[in-house]
Amino acid sequence: MRLVVTGAAGFIGSAFVRATLSRGEGVEILALDSLTYAGNLENLAPVANSPGFELERLDIRDREGLSRSFERFRPDVVVHCAAESHVDRSILSPADSVATNVLGTAVLLDVARDHHPRLFLHVSTDEVYGSIDAPGVASESALLSPTSPYSASKAGSDHLVLAYGRTFSLPVIVSRATNNYGPYQFPEKLIPLVVSNALCDLPLPVYGDGLQVRDWLHVDDHCRAIDALIARGQPGSIYNVGGDSPLSNIELVRSVLRICGKPESLIQHVPDRPGHDRRYAISSERIRRETGWAPSVDFDEGLRSTVEWYRRNPGWVERVRSGDYLRYYERNYAARGASLSR
Ligand code: NAD
Ligand code: TYD
Repeated sequence: MRLVVTGAAGFIGSAFVRATLSRGEGVEILALDSLTYAGNLENLAPVANSPGFELERLDIRDREGLSRSFERFRPDVVVHCAAESHVDRSILSPADSVATNVLGTAVLLDVARDHHPRLFLHVSTDEVYGSIDAPGVASESALLSPTSPYSASKAGSDHLVLAYGRTFSLPVIVSRATNNYGPYQFPEKLIPLVVSNALCDLPLPVYGDGLQVRDWLHVDDHCRAIDALIARGQPGSIYNVGGDSPLSNIELVRSVLRICGKPESLIQHVPDRPGHDRRYAISSERIRRETGWAPSVDFDEGLRSTVEWYRRNPGWVERVRSGDYLRYYERNYAARGASLSR
């Protein structure tokens, strides 16, 4: 099988590429990434010399570049992970989310349809459903109600993907996963941020009361879900992918502190994120029923091994937490009136 993976140097894309190539099943991968602040070649270093792997620095808005790559590589399957993926950044710079998530996806779809892949798998998010009051759960047919520029741009891209399926008979699947965690995640998202802060005795910023609920999915389980959808997903369909591990942010932060052996005095409540969704909750019944997939990583175990990875990779953390990251960090937390000095 010949796979194009966009956003391959990011957190989920690189996990998928590493997992696929390490199985050694003769899969060939063309990894595409424009290497934004979130794209990191170190994430692909473990497989950089694998047979069947090639990497190209390319922006998904670059139609000519994409056309050349698709013409040459002729993928069977496209796994589309490239995105501006962070809610807080989308609040600071909404146009960036639209540019990559909506426009970039439209260009990629256009190029893909000229080359007739067997499947275009669009990696999306449960955030498109918006906040769900307890005890409700969103199924794939729930109305979309995105609230942040990030989730609105992902909802826009989901609609485009489905429209290309209907209008141009491109075989598409939209997967909507819950919050991912695991190694190599950029420390702007909650888990890697609080883990890396805790390990350096820095304050852990908790937005508002910290009672917001997210469902946590280990990135390895997400990659197995993508495999299952490539093998057994129904083109034209949407699949929710949940981790079955709902937790409030404050409970999660306390668990991280316990694992790191650090005091709760590091927790710092800061003013809330504007438009903050209170609770995400989905049903993953469909992917389970149709493909047999189910999450297999126990959350406590997954969190412990994730903390261990950050503890054992201080160099990776130090390198990504420099330059642009420091400017973003200052800006994001200053924007909510928080000073996060020691
Ligand atoms: P990430 O931010 O870690 O990686 C995104 C990658 O896309 C980076 O390598 C970046 O360089 C690349 N990229 C950005 N703009 C690009 C462009 N214009 N052209 C080419 N490459 C570009 O994100 P992630 O966490 O790996 O998320 C991957 C996908 O999964 C995204 O579509 C995201 O919406 C979705 N998703 C993420 C989560 C999560 O918890 N992280 C949950 C559900 C869905
Ligand atoms: P995040 O990892 O940014 O994912 P998302 O917003 O896509 O769910 O945030 C997860 C939750 O953690 C969310 O409710 C916002 C909250 N949060 C904090 O309380 N403090 C932080 O510093 C960050 C980054 C997030």
